[in-house]
Amino acid sequence: MSVIIKNINKKYGDFVAVNDISFQVKEGEFLALLGPSGSGKTTLLRIIAGLELPDTGEIYLEGIDAQNKPVRERKIGFVFQHFALFKHLSVFDNIAFGLRLKRPKLTKQEIYLRVDNLLKLVHLAGVGGKYPSELSGGQRQRVALARVLAIEPKYMLLDEPFGALDSKVRKELRRWLKKLHDTIGLTTIFVTHDQEEAIEIADRIAILNDGKLVQLATPLELWESPANVFVYDFLGNYNIFKGYEIEDGKLLFSKPSSQAHMTQVYSRPYEIGIERTPSDPRFFQQATLTLINKAGPLIKLEFEGKEETFYLAEIEKSILETMNFKIGEELWLKPLRYCQFKKSTVLSE
Ligand SMILES: Nc1ncnc2c1ncn2[C@@H]1O[C@H](COP(=O)(O)OP(=O)(O)OP(=O)(O)O)[C@@H](O)[C@H]1O
Ligand SMILES: [Mg+2]
Repeated sequence: MSVIIKNINKKYGDFVAVNDISFQVKEGEFLALLGPSGSGKTTLLRIIAGLELPDTGEIYLEGIDAQNKPVRERKIGFVFQHFALFKHLSVFDNIAFGLRLKRPKLTKQEIYLRVDNLLKLVHLAGVGGKYPSELSGGQRQRVALARVLAIEPKYMLLDEPFGALDSKVRKELRRWLKKLHDTIGLTTIFVTHDQEEAIEIADRIAILNDGKLVQLATPLELWESPANVFVYDFLGNYNIFKGYEIEDGKLLFSKPSSQAHMTQVYSRPYEIGIERTPSDPRFFQQATLTLINKAGPLIKLEFEGKEETFYLAEIEKSILETMNFKIGEELWLKPLRYCQFKKSTVLSE
């Protein structure tokens, strides 16, 4: 049940919400749409569902032009960003709602069995008689999913279904959702602005910014080969080191005579080397240690360098114990691993 979208454009007045986006979601795939607020994720999802019309572009479901398919025939289950259950209906009746509208009509017994199965599937067996107000936020979202699954969709479109929940419940639910997806194998598009969530759950991630598709790749490919600084920045903290040259993939110190070629490289906090007496100071930046945070699996260090530069490092506890770094100490920092981006994609210098 593949989804192919081609050159989708959508404007609101002069504002471009979706800018020429094309991609393909494979049958049974779990695709995450990841991007900052306002990047066009919900708009794109609504267009795929048929709830919004694109200005231009094509959508194919199972190879068939979706324009010829009314929304109800698209077999799409949609869980909205701000999803509300019917408060006056029990959990059972919420899930049964779509089943009761089915034609030809299902018998009472058929509806009971289907709802019962769905309650088990979403790990809510036995709560059918409760009302939404008696459930936790996480339980409510699972009812919302069961309600959508009841109509036996071929595609599942989820718009930040766990957005309103606290981070622990979110983590539990996304693992649960991943397993559920793997069990029932629905082609799924999942919107989130949480990169950790996307990385953990998705087969591939489409990164959006300002209505454009910036990169579509597996989590590992994004992590190892970000297309530009935006993707790199979106995936985590980093440091900028200035004043190097790269030749044949090797980092070289830039000589004053070659300032024009001087480049900057980007390193994650755990890709930084810290020394007291550097072997070759030309490769290092001098900085003062300003903070040591020992909470967490890695020790976090913060540094202030010259000209208001700022560095973050993460090191093993054993290294801190051996080196015994002290706050206020002048140290030397060097990128051990780094990324480099073309000038045109550099965000700020
Ligand atoms: N009906 C509308 N009329 C006018 N502008 C709209 C409309 N819907 C969306 N927009 C604009 O289009 C842009 C993209 O909106 P969209 O809701 O798709 O973003 P999003 O990526 O889902 O953001 P969030 O993470 O905050 O949900 C936003 O700038 C928004 O203001
Ligand atoms: Mg949205």
